[in-house]
Amino acid sequence: MFVCLCKSVTDHDIRDAVDEGVTSFEAMQSRLSVSTQCGSCTCEVKAIMEDKLNQTLNVRASVSPSHIRELVL
Ligand code: FES
Repeated sequence: MFVCLCKSVTDHDIRDAVDEGVTSFEAMQSRLSVSTQCGSCTCEVKAIMEDKLNQTLNVRASVSPSHIRELVL
């Protein structure tokens, strides 16, 4: 589904970028140009990133949910 209509970015694009190593919101903006126009998608982009990072890093016991939240914010 499209998350950022201004830049035609889907939730899959965001999840794929996390898989490829993007861990901060600023890096995601640079990579996909997401949330660089009207900004109305910012909260959803961050939520998808946080969810994907939780899924990806959850196997590592040393990474806490609050640390993941700090990465995205
Ligand atoms: S909907 Fe993402 S910048 Fe406008």
